[in-house]
Order: sequence, then structure tokens, then C-alpha cells
Amino acid sequence: MELVEAIKSRRSIRRFEDKPVPGEILRELIDTAVWAPSASNEQPWGFVVVEDREYMRALSEMAKSDLLSVMNQTPELGRYRTLMENPDFNIFHNAPVLVVIYGRRDRGLSRYDCSIVAQNLMLLAWEEGLGTCWIGFAQKVCDSSEFREMHNVPEDYETVAPIVLGYPRFTSQKPVPRKEFPIFFWSEGNL
Ligand SMILES: Cc1cc2nc3c(=O)[nH]c(=O)nc-3n(C[C@H](O)[C@H](O)[C@H](O)COP(=O)(O)O)c2cc1C
Repeated sequence: MELVEAIKSRRSIRRFEDKPVPGEILRELIDTAVWAPSASNEQPWGFVVVEDREYMRALSEMAKSDLLSVMNQTPELGRYRTLMENPDFNIFHNAPVLVVIYGRRDRGLSRYDCSIVAQNLMLLAWEEGLGTCWIGFAQKVCDSSEFREMHNVPEDYETVAPIVLGYPRFTSQKPVPRKEFPIFFWSEGNL
């Protein structure tokens, strides 16, 4: 797949086939995704890979009740109340795999570095016929001490990008149009 095509056709996927993703494919995706630039070439990332749908469903329930508990203090979350109250809603969209990208806390730019790895991973997965979705709702639960202890995440790493992967149930999705964006300045004008 051409890079331009991959960038423009990638969509967040929220429906998945009930089909596991081979471990060697996951490994290859991660090994390639880390060929990203990073501030001072620190490469400040680390990974957790979870392939247990039932466990992810339990994690989803924890995340939902946590999000509901802070909703009153966080007005921008209000529009998700109905979703979070829906017992059938799984924040991981029933995907077979969750890859969490962690970044070193003591590296000031590590969130940017890890976000580049995240985009690499999503594009590489798409090229491989896999769908992905970045799950911001999972940020807190992946940073909880229970999750971190269970998955050997050192204290000096924080969650940057929880990303689900799997074979998409729908492959043809309409592009999400890009919004108009400002170019604040361009010295040569008019482009
Ligand atoms: C930081 C971040 C957090 C996101 N969190 C969620 C999420 O919790 N659940 C979800 O379904 N999609 C989530 N998304 C996906 C966005 O909704 C999606 O990228 C956006 O609607 C544009 O659609 P596209 O990815 O198909 O182009 C997140 C994306 C980003 C970059």
C-alpha cells in the first residue's frame, strides 16, 4: 500500500472479526513502529500487549465506572454519559488485542515520541489488513497500579497510547473529512 493511500484510508475501527492476530505479526508491527524519531534519540517507549478479551471487558467496566465517577467534575465528559452507562458498551470495542505504549516520565518530550510510534503502528497495521483505534478512555485504567503491577510496568513509565487492534469487520468506511485548518503564516503567501 502506498504511504499516501495508507494515511488517507486509515480509519478508527470499532468492529472486529472474532479472529486472533498472530503473535509474529504483532511483534513485526511493534518492531517496525519503533523506527520513529525521538527527542535526543531517547527512544523512551515500552509496551504491554494484552490478548485476552474477557480481561479487557473487565478493564472496560472499571474504566467506565471510573469515568462516570469523575463526570460531574469534568463537564467535557458529559456527552459520553449514556455510552458509559450502557452495559453493552465496551471501551475496547471487543477487539482481540490491546497494545499500550508507555513513555518515560522523566523525558519531557516522550509523549510526542510515543505518539509518533502510535501513528506508525496504526498505519503499519492498516497496511497489514488490521484495524486499530486509539482508546483515550483507557488512559487511566492502564495507568492504575493494579494494571501496571500485573504487567511489569516500571514506575517511571506513564501511559501514552492504548491502541486496540484486530481484523476489521467493515473494511470500507467513508473518509472522515478534514476540517479547514489555519495556516498562521507562510512567508511566500497564497498557498
Ligand atoms: C488521543 C486519541 C484518543 C482517542 N480516544 C478514543 C476512544 O477512547 N474511543 C474511540 O472509540 N476512539 C477514540 N479515538 C479515535 C478518534 O475518535 C478518531 O481518530 C477520530 O474520530 C477521527 O476518525 P479516524 O481515526 O477514523 O480518522 C481517539 C483518538 C485519539 C488520537
